[in-house]
Amino acid sequence: MCNSLAHAEDSKNDAKNGSKMKIDLSTKIAGVKLETCVFNASGPADVTLEELEVIGKSKSSAVTMKSCTLEPRVGNPEPRYADLEYGSINSMGLPNLGYKAYIKFARVLKKKFKKPVIASISGMTLEDNVIMFKAFNNSAVDIIEFNPGSPNTIGKPIIGYDFEEMDRLLDAVSKVCKKPFGVKLPAYFDLVHFEQIAGVIKKYPVKFVTCINSIGNGLAINPYTEKPLIKPKGGLGGIGGGYTKYTTLANVRRFYELFEDKIQVIGVGGVYTGIDAFELILAGASAVQIGTAYLQKGPYIFEQVQNELGDFMANKGYKKLSDFRGQLKPL
Ligand SMILES: Cc1cc2nc3c(=O)[nH]c(=O)nc-3n(C[C@H](O)[C@H](O)[C@H](O)COP(=O)(O)O)c2cc1C
Repeated sequence: MCNSLAHAEDSKNDAKNGSKMKIDLSTKIAGVKLETCVFNASGPADVTLEELEVIGKSKSSAVTMKSCTLEPRVGNPEPRYADLEYGSINSMGLPNLGYKAYIKFARVLKKKFKKPVIASISGMTLEDNVIMFKAFNNSAVDIIEFNPGSPNTIGKPIIGYDFEEMDRLLDAVSKVCKKPFGVKLPAYFDLVHFEQIAGVIKKYPVKFVTCINSIGNGLAINPYTEKPLIKPKGGLGGIGGGYTKYTTLANVRRFYELFEDKIQVIGVGGVYTGIDAFELILAGASAVQIGTAYLQKGPYIFEQVQNELGDFMANKGYKKLSDFRGQLKPL
């Protein structure tokens, strides 16, 4: 049998054997090695050290911490989160313990769990962001995710939609940041906006973009009580979970193409299964985060998504992410 035929036979047998095939789910983000490409998103149940330790103990391949601000924040009035049939709505308003707590937590988490720790910085002003980026330079965190504007901070615009402000912020933080950093982006819907924000990001040493934050300002209503499900902003809040998956895929794909794989893309939004993760990687994602599904299903979700992704890859004869990442086929 000629070599290529033998190889095809091998893959077929491997595929038949499904999970027996050795599947490598590892990835690198900003040069940092992750055991698998599946880990938690910033925000859901990662505010306190106790919550972060649950993520540390789970199969999440990194521990992403809650977006922090200069001062601790209590966040918006409750109820501020609700499960929906296929996802979630929230208007948390960045409740967090202040950046100094997360610098301390990073040291504890690194020592205890020996996996990468990711800080998320979300200052209320440019000056706050600069102070926090400087402070995290001397911390145990491996990577910083810059979340320049949550959709749920009352009175604050979603800064990702203000390209001049994004330019100003990225200019300021990249001057002081000594850790590898990426940017968490809101969802974009207009093809021109993808190009505009990509143009801004390319000017700076941004290693990755994380797409997408919850989709801003949805409204969920209880028809029986005739009231909204959450209290802040008359019920308006960010939508997460299954409703976001197709927007996430489009954002991942468009940035993967625009950055020509020179700036990595992390996909987040609507991942519940290994096939959801597979689709995001096929669109170009180098890793996948889980937010709403973690809140709804608990820490086992990381292992479940990893197992399902491994099985799906094995059935296709793929052994590692680079066998299919970004390789969405044309119709
Ligand atoms: C309760 C809750 C809190 C969140 N807080 C943050 C946050 O602090 N920082 C951030 O970057 N994203 C935050 N997000 C957005 C998630 O990280 C994620 O981008 C979004 O929910 C889409 O992913 P999912 O469909 O897996 O939930 C939050 C989402 C939820 C549901």
